[in-house]
Amino acid sequence: MAANLTLSLAGRTALVTGAATGIGRAIALAFARAGAAVVVNHLGRKEQADVLVQEIHQLGGQAWALEADVCVAADVTRLAEQLQQRCGTLDILVNNAGIIQEKPFLDTTEADWDRMLGVDLKSVFLTCRAFLPGMVARQQGVIINIASDLGLLGRAQLAPYCAAKAGVIGLTRSLAREFAPAIRVNAIAPGPVATAMVSLESMSAESIQKELDIPQQRLAEPEEIAATTLFLASDLSRFYCGQVLGPNGGSVMP
Ligand SMILES: NC(=O)c1ccc[n+]([C@@H]2O[C@H](COP(=O)([O-])OP(=O)(O)OC[C@H]3O[C@@H](n4cnc5c(N)ncnc54)[C@H](O)[C@@H]3O)[C@@H](O)[C@H]2O)c1
Repeated sequence: MAANLTLSLAGRTALVTGAATGIGRAIALAFARAGAAVVVNHLGRKEQADVLVQEIHQLGGQAWALEADVCVAADVTRLAEQLQQRCGTLDILVNNAGIIQEKPFLDTTEADWDRMLGVDLKSVFLTCRAFLPGMVARQQGVIINIASDLGLLGRAQLAPYCAAKAGVIGLTRSLAREFAPAIRVNAIAPGPVATAMVSLESMSAESIQKELDIPQQRLAEPEEIAATTLFLASDLSRFYCGQVLGPNGGSVMP
């Protein structure tokens, strides 16, 4: 097959989890601009999700907002049913939803652990389990999991988050091996990005300072992560399988 060197996602349907804000929002917009129909998953952010859907409609694209808690199996099943009713099959799944909590390890409760691992890792298991059968039936599909450079580096006060993101990388590589060649599964491990996650809402000033201590000395814009996601979703990356791409400003140099 001759290589198709375009970034077009025309005719594809994509689901982006946690897409009402931050990196997910930028991914949804980038996909819509590339021609994909986009399902904007959110949890309790109807207003922001509706604004994003409107924005995509104004670009001439197709989009739907679907609420679901992606760490709850019944919600993910309902999300898959609603997606099928509205757009039929799914071509691209981006597991982006995530949370972070900064806490000394010895103060971390079982509930903290379960919540972090639920949103940041189990959700990826649940969505992959829900959408892979359709991809297998059609022998095509792309899955992109948003991990983190901290899943590779580890970080004090963020053990559950780092463990979950390292788990996302292991899950990505396992699924990549199990479902290749028809389905491509890859991960992205971004460095620090200017979103609510890296703000005083969710992190101490000291941690934010640590995030900036990388060769590029700045936070990425969400669009810089969306660019990598767009590449992995497109046919330009069709020989990428089980890879972990690192738009990270130099925080990790493997
Ligand atoms: N910002 C960074 O520096 C950075 C770095 C590396 C990786 N990441 C990862 O990027 C992803 C996006 O984060 P962001 O920086 O855009 O922050 P963000 O807080 O703006 O986005 C996270 C989104 O996930 C949604 N969400 C949370 N729990 C959910 C659930 N159970 N079901 C559905 N949606 C849920 C939130 O409502 C939010 O919209 C996360 O997985 C995060 O771990 C972020």
